[in-house]
Amino acid sequence: MEKIIVKGGNKLKGEVNISSAKNSVLPIIAASILSGDLSVIENAPMLEDVFVICDVLESLGASIKINKENNNISIDTKDINSKEEPKADLVRKMRASFLIMGPMLSRFGRVKLSLPGGCNIGSRPIDLHLKGLSSLGAQIYLGHGYVEGKADRLIGNKIYLDFPSVGATENIMMAGVLAKGETVIENAAEEPEIKDLANYLNDMGAIVEGAGTGRIRIKGVSELKGVTHKPIYDRIEAGTYMIAAAMTRSKIKINGVDEEHIKPILAKLSECGINIDIKNGIATTYGDVDIKPVDIKTMPYPGFPTDMQAQMMALLSLSKGTSIITETVFENRFMHASEIKRMGANIKIDGRSAVIEGVKGLTGAEVRATDLRAGAALILCGLAAECNTQISDVYHIDRGYVDIEKKLKSLGACIERINV
Ligand code: UD1
Repeated sequence: MEKIIVKGGNKLKGEVNISSAKNSVLPIIAASILSGDLSVIENAPMLEDVFVICDVLESLGASIKINKENNNISIDTKDINSKEEPKADLVRKMRASFLIMGPMLSRFGRVKLSLPGGCNIGSRPIDLHLKGLSSLGAQIYLGHGYVEGKADRLIGNKIYLDFPSVGATENIMMAGVLAKGETVIENAAEEPEIKDLANYLNDMGAIVEGAGTGRIRIKGVSELKGVTHKPIYDRIEAGTYMIAAAMTRSKIKINGVDEEHIKPILAKLSECGINIDIKNGIATTYGDVDIKPVDIKTMPYPGFPTDMQAQMMALLSLSKGTSIITETVFENRFMHASEIKRMGANIKIDGRSAVIEGVKGLTGAEVRATDLRAGAALILCGLAAECNTQISDVYHIDRGYVDIEKKLKSLGACIERINV
């Protein structure tokens, strides 16, 4: 078993490069199914989740080359066979595997896969995905832990999402691009990663308008071609490094930040008193300040992202006062609170809210990464804590942070991975 050990107390300095967004790359790789050509993803993040979606496509017959030297991924989807089923253990490993449903139905009119898994942060149903695909004419069968979809050819329709689900918006968008006629998604998710996917689809020859707003219009086309795409930067990774600077009272430069995408995070960090100056995609973070308490409610974009909630909890545990975090997106996303408390934080959970009384300092402890962002939050606490923090279940962290120990080490942190 691997563990990450962080010895707290070091100031950070220098600069760090942000990788491409995992949450852009996963749907984009799924969308490459739509063309039956060769597609290339440039500057792809070399992450466990990315390898899993590549394995899913390979198990369908795609041929994939991952070049870890230049971070390019070449995906040839010519030989995908809709009669194949991706291995159940792969799909259960990661919820985003479900993103192949829309493209497979759209290109082949058939798909069967195991019901998805993913981070343990709530029930995470797939009803909105299935409702959307059914509206486009797919017949959906559920049973024995599997979902199967069939359609002669999908037919465009108007779909109103009860909640702006990121994955459902992506799945329906990918299904709509080869459907007959027009598909309109109302109350669509507006995340920057949705816009990135739409840009990729449009480069392939699709006609998608309005991505990044709550109303997406798709005019179906009869075929798409393979293209080369460089995804957007990871706004959650950037936000995590900004908090690393603040928790260690350091000044660092973060390269690869789109100010527009990160606005909801910047607004809260600025309320906390942290000064961040963004020029030409470089965010200089001035963290040598006393953290002010803030209240946060996680919301779909452009609200405050649930994927930054755990890291904010880490930060606010050192603030000068009381903060309240309300989690509205996932119903079970406070598991990190009890781990952060092991390090001396004062946090009380009441339903969907967490009340955080800032403490003077944290102390190192043995803790467990309960999910991906929880793991990042514990590393952040470790950087600020007195003595050593030992984090187990680090495979969660590897799902979403490229070279996290290497990047933090290059900033001057004392962090290493051990095998026990
Ligand atoms: C994506 C992100 C994840 C992020 C989340 C919310 C990827 C690969 N993952 O996940 O990092 O935390 O958005 O920003 O992009 N829901 C339903 N029915 C559905 C679908 C979702 O009720 O059919 C609910 C979920 O249970 C959850 C909420 O909607 O409570 C948000 O989920 P969704 O936006 O779909 O998240 P994901 O696409 O799974």
